[in-house]
Amino acid sequence: MNTAESVPKNPSSCSTSPLNLEEFRRQGYMAIDFIADYYQNIEKHPVLSQVEPGYLKNLFPKSAPYSPEPIETILHDVQKHIVPGITHWQSPNYFGYFPSSASTAGFLGEVLCTGFNVVGFDWMSSPAATELENIVMEWLGEMLTLPKCFLFAGNGGGVIQGTTCEAILCTLVAARDRMLSQIGKDNIGKLVVYGSNQTHSALQKAAHVAGIHKTNCRAIETTKSTSFALSPESLRLAICLDIESGLVPMFLCATIGTTATTAVDPLRPLCDVANTYGLWVHVDAAYAGNACICPEFQHFLDGVERAHSFSLNAHKWFFTTLDCCCLWLKDPKALTKSLSTNPEYLMSNHATNSEQVVNYKDWQIALSRRFRSMKLWLVLRSYGVGNLRSFLRSHVKMAQLFEDLVASDKRFEVVVPRNFAMVCFRALPLAISKEVSENGTAVNGQKISYDQLECSNQLNRELLKSINASGQVYLTHAVVAGLYIIRFAVGATLTEDRHVFTAWKVVQEHLDAISKIIIVGQYVNFPQFQGST
Ligand SMILES: Cc1ncc(COP(=O)(O)O)c(C=O)c1O
Repeated sequence: MNTAESVPKNPSSCSTSPLNLEEFRRQGYMAIDFIADYYQNIEKHPVLSQVEPGYLKNLFPKSAPYSPEPIETILHDVQKHIVPGITHWQSPNYFGYFPSSASTAGFLGEVLCTGFNVVGFDWMSSPAATELENIVMEWLGEMLTLPKCFLFAGNGGGVIQGTTCEAILCTLVAARDRMLSQIGKDNIGKLVVYGSNQTHSALQKAAHVAGIHKTNCRAIETTKSTSFALSPESLRLAICLDIESGLVPMFLCATIGTTATTAVDPLRPLCDVANTYGLWVHVDAAYAGNACICPEFQHFLDGVERAHSFSLNAHKWFFTTLDCCCLWLKDPKALTKSLSTNPEYLMSNHATNSEQVVNYKDWQIALSRRFRSMKLWLVLRSYGVGNLRSFLRSHVKMAQLFEDLVASDKRFEVVVPRNFAMVCFRALPLAISKEVSENGTAVNGQKISYDQLECSNQLNRELLKSINASGQVYLTHAVVAGLYIIRFAVGATLTEDRHVFTAWKVVQEHLDAISKIIIVGQYVNFPQFQGST
């Protein structure tokens, strides 16, 4: 063991400089080979990591090495100790949450971004970083057919944020300050933000960070009858009640593709209501917005011209590595008014003084920023709009296939109509309990209400647990209107039809296994059934 004073023995050529280029070439090839091999063998791993909490700390030393270690040893440890602790989001058998679809263009864009390692806070600090971001945001905005008012060409503009949470926070702060400039900053306690009970928790967090009182955050109820979309009438009612109470409605977050069920809030009528009362409307299309590069999905954006801002995560379903949240605004000045700072060391900059450039530091929370547009640019150029549409459509088709398989088995139901590439389904307790008569009488004559929500929830909870423990596939869940549902989201780049068929077989087999347990008697004691098997 070296002490702090001793000189490392046998320093490798790498240790002489952190930018040894010959070593970089050699190690770079090894790292890329490592990743390529990982993808080649990805199906051999259980999709959901099987490790226990704290597994890693006993495998590595307590302190960082004082002397350098060769890349070969490090990569060996990655393979042996890190890979087992990875949940394989890129596995073709991954159908959880929303996708984080990978591409080699995205990886290489990330390499270039990281390799240049510029800190492009303003135009001057790296003109190409700013200007390329301007260009890709125009390109993508046009691909989505966003109205011109959201593009630089129409006095709006786009920026790449890290995540949707940041995008919502930034727009909420802009909306807050815009409103406070009208009603006085002492009235911040009166501001109210609106979403539905399906809106992502990002809104709640953003409101909290922006100083909006917890009791002034409305999560308006949705129902199955509207497929969990926010009703404009419910919004109007909530706004009117708040106004009557002396509060000030300020911000609506509408969602295209909610996290639980990919519900689509109807933008046009919601914007009608929000515009009437002077609210800022942000459209969170984190997942589903990506599909809107395909003409057949663009109707979901109907009315977006009445919103103030719109964002999507290219790192979800657009083959671009995390993090890459694209945010467009009609009035970027509202944002920069809130977020711009001008410390002395950034002044005296002829570009800024000319007011002809975008300084993205004023469009986000942090000062420093990555060259994120590089990866999106590589994705757009390497595949082209035509291929990107085909990739997305292939996922939608596979989701359709899964939906058909679910519909063909009486023991299951599709819970809400599928909008994109995600299917929400559940196993039906009554249908699987063959030993129980249709009227809910068990073999022992006991009366049971099989329609009870908790009965269904318990069954589907157990089913999902069993499926995921197998490691063969990975699916996640949601709870809507108290109903526990299983989500099947297609979007991993390597997924093919055969993976969908296999996944369905896995689901059926696990239901068969659970049904047997139920039929031998434990289940008839419901609601005491604890599901411990
Ligand atoms: C609709 C929606 N909004 C927001 C988010 C949060 O995104 P991020 O992690 O980029 O903040 C998600 C994540 O899944 C989402 O589905």
